[in-house]
Amino acid sequence: MWSSGQPIETSGAAGYSVLTGPVGLGDSAGGSSPSGGRAGVAEFFGPALAGVEQLAGLLEAHGVERGLIGPREMERLWERHLVNSGALAALLPERGLVVDAGSGAGLPGLVLALMRPKLRFELVDSMRRRTEWLAEAVDRLGLANVSVTRERVEQLPNRGRAKAVVSRAVARLDKLAPWTAGLLRPGGLFLALKGSSAGEELAACGTALRRCGLVGAEVLELTPLPDMEPTYVVRATRSGA
Ligand SMILES: C[S@@+](CC[C@H](N)C(=O)[O-])C[C@H]1O[C@@H](n2cnc3c(N)ncnc32)[C@H](O)[C@@H]1O
Repeated sequence: MWSSGQPIETSGAAGYSVLTGPVGLGDSAGGSSPSGGRAGVAEFFGPALAGVEQLAGLLEAHGVERGLIGPREMERLWERHLVNSGALAALLPERGLVVDAGSGAGLPGLVLALMRPKLRFELVDSMRRRTEWLAEAVDRLGLANVSVTRERVEQLPNRGRAKAVVSRAVARLDKLAPWTAGLLRPGGLFLALKGSSAGEELAACGTALRRCGLVGAEVLELTPLPDMEPTYVVRATRSGA
C-alpha cells in the first residue's frame, strides 16, 4: 500500500527533477475529507485511522486555544493538515529514526508515527508550549515510538543517526538544510513538505543543499487522494552512502 507509485512525468531543470504521480492509494479511494469521502480517507490511513481521528479530536478541542493551528484551518484540518502530513509516509524507510524538525502541533510527525509504527520518531521544537503539547499528545495517543525534544534543531548535536529528517512549514530550504543535514546518516533522506513554489525555492537554494552534503534534490508532486490538491515535497539524500 505504501509504494510511492510510478512517476508519470519527469523533467530536469536547474539541477532538480519534478516527479508526479499517485501515492499509495488504490483506484477505489475517493474523496478528500471524512465528510466528503470517508472511504478514501479510511483507505489512505488504513489501520492508523482511529489514531488520526483521535489526534484530529485533540486538535479540534485544543489546537486553536493553545495556538497550534489557526481558527480558519480547522475546517480543512483533514485535507490540508492530516492527509497532507500523511503523504510523506510512503517516502519513509522501513525502519530506523525519523526526526521531525519544528514539529509544532505534531505535523507531520504525529501523523507519521501513527501510520508507521515500526519507525522511531523524534519530534523537535524550540518552543516550550509546543513540546508540552507534543508530550501530552504522545501520551494521549499511546505512542510508544515517539520522543519529544525541546531544542532549536540546529543546536542538536550532529548525530548522523537519522534515516530521515522531515519538516513542514518551518524555514526556507537554505536554512533548513544546514540545520538538519548533520542529523542524517549517509543515505538518509531530507524530506520537506512545501507549497506549490517548491520548485522555485529549490532552484534558489540548490547550492545550499549541496554544500551541506544533500544530493539528488528533486521536487515530488504527490496526490495523496484523488480529489486533493497536490502536495509538494523536496527530497534529497545525504551523501556518503
Ligand atoms: C509554522 S510552525 C509549523 C509547525 C508544524 N510543522 C506544522 O506544519 O503545523 C513552525 C514550528 O517550527 C518551530 N521552529 C522554528 N524554528 C525552529 C528551530 N530552529 N528549531 C526547532 N523548531 C523550530 C516553531 O516553534 C514552530 O512550532
